[in-house]
Amino acid sequence: MSAGARAKLVRQLQMAYSAELGAGYAYRGHWRSVRDPGERDHIRQIEAEEWHHRELVGGLLRQLGGKPSPLREFIFWWIGHFIAGFCHVGGWFAPMYGAGRLERGNIVEYEDAAVFAAECGHHEMIDCLLTMAEVEWDHEAYFRSKASGHPFVRILKMWPATEPKEAIRARFAENEKRGDAVA
Ligand SMILES: [Fe+2]
Ligand SMILES: [Fe+2]
Repeated sequence: MSAGARAKLVRQLQMAYSAELGAGYAYRGHWRSVRDPGERDHIRQIEAEEWHHRELVGGLLRQLGGKPSPLREFIFWWIGHFIAGFCHVGGWFAPMYGAGRLERGNIVEYEDAAVFAAECGHHEMIDCLLTMAEVEWDHEAYFRSKASGHPFVRILKMWPATEPKEAIRARFAENEKRGDAVA
């Protein structure tokens, strides 16, 4: 079991734990700022999923004997509230586009966490982490579908396309195989 991988996993989970706090508050501001009832419901559902992720990540951290980082909690509390406030003045497009870009990064964060979990022998955490990566994939897809239809993307350009959802688990399995071959 690698102590380095365990430390990386704890650090990754601390980042994710606080990022979910920021996301939760940001989406609360976001759904309250949109007028379309379908969009309100969908983003509200996404907010609930982010709080659920935070609970799950908090549980994994505790299992590892780790604790949330007070500094990150502080920073992301403010980021979340800042974005929530921005949603009320930033128009329709910018929050949709910004959310999609951030969600793109969240997929990778949980994929990396799953790799670190495997490296330090916490195989029981892998499915939970990959499932969260898949939910972030759904979030990214939703905001992509919203932002990509808007005329502003001709100037701003869409962020790089994600691979199909199945690629998350396929990539992880591939990585595991490579790890076995090295060991
Ligand atoms: Fe999340
Ligand atoms: Fe998300």
